[in-house]
Amino acid sequence: MMLSASFAALLSLLHVATAQTTTASAPTATSTVALNNAAKAAGKLYFGTATDNPELTDTAYVAILNNTNMFGQLTPGNSMKWDAIEPEQNVFDFTGGDQIADLAEATGKIIRGHNLVWYSQLPTWVSSGTWTTETLTAVIQNHVTTEVSHYAGKMYAWDVINEPFNDDGTFRTDVFYNTLGSDYISIALTAARAADPNAKLYINDYNLEYSGAKIDAMVQLVTDLKAADVPIDGIGFESHFILGEVDASSLQTNMESLTALGVEVAITELDDRIELPATDADLEQQKADYESVVGVCMAVSGCVGVTIWDYTDKYSWIPSTFSGYGEACPWDENLVPKPAYDGIVLGFQS
Ligand SMILES: *[C@@H]1O[C@H](CO)[C@@H](O)[C@H](O)[C@H]1NC(C)=O
Repeated sequence: MMLSASFAALLSLLHVATAQTTTASAPTATSTVALNNAAKAAGKLYFGTATDNPELTDTAYVAILNNTNMFGQLTPGNSMKWDAIEPEQNVFDFTGGDQIADLAEATGKIIRGHNLVWYSQLPTWVSSGTWTTETLTAVIQNHVTTEVSHYAGKMYAWDVINEPFNDDGTFRTDVFYNTLGSDYISIALTAARAADPNAKLYINDYNLEYSGAKIDAMVQLVTDLKAADVPIDGIGFESHFILGEVDASSLQTNMESLTALGVEVAITELDDRIELPATDADLEQQKADYESVVGVCMAVSGCVGVTIWDYTDKYSWIPSTFSGYGEACPWDENLVPKPAYDGIVLGFQS
């Protein structure tokens, strides 16, 4: 059947429009090695990803997520945070958290629980409550004990404390610190250990990847907790990088400063955001950045694994948080692996 000339012209226009909006010519990954397999072959415990409950209705997304050769570990992006788990005092809802824990279990993945005590995504009954030392201690103990007990035996690790420091190394002033000083940290860690003695207990923060006051403060905190016999097993380096700003030397030095104190470390929320529009050269730099970060984890024996903050640009938190930036993940928004994927493989093979 012949197409009319005008219909054929329209089709041709549509074709051009489609090609331009899907960046069909952007470079893609060439490696056929699956990432968790690469991590394990390199002696690491896992390569993993964050995920979130609304994404689990996307079957193309879940098909890749389910592949345990690709991802050996999951972190729930939101559904184990305080506002989701205990939205009203002593009213617990594990629905969303259980969905991700069950998926991890069904597909043979380990889980990093995320997170127990954080200033953000905190229900107002906590953040705006009127507390004494005694009442807020009891609230923290009840929250941590109930949540950690619920998942006891299922968690590789918990981010017990999330983002306790300002970038200048002072403690973040939130309801916990303002009421209890830094004691809230030991209160939460002690309760978590009692509720699940087998889970690794972490403190997780960002901007620990560079030299300066923040990493110094974290090293001091771990030193102090160890001296006081407070349980602490690991420090999470969130690793939300900006393209071209990975400082591998500082990252390695900082990880080693912590592992020297007897804790393990992990890359917990890796992504690498690009100022849009991303060029082919940007995607090559991103490949180098991912390779460099994974290479540091390889160089530090106490670095147990690497978690990316979701695997695809389709569900990345970056565009809505950092205006003008995006394409931070190793898979593009069409679930096609980018050169960054090859960088991760090369990092594990270094
Ligand atoms: C993913 O794994 C879960 C648990 O085994 C299964 O119920 C689901 O159908 C899988 N989804 C896809 C898209 O493979």
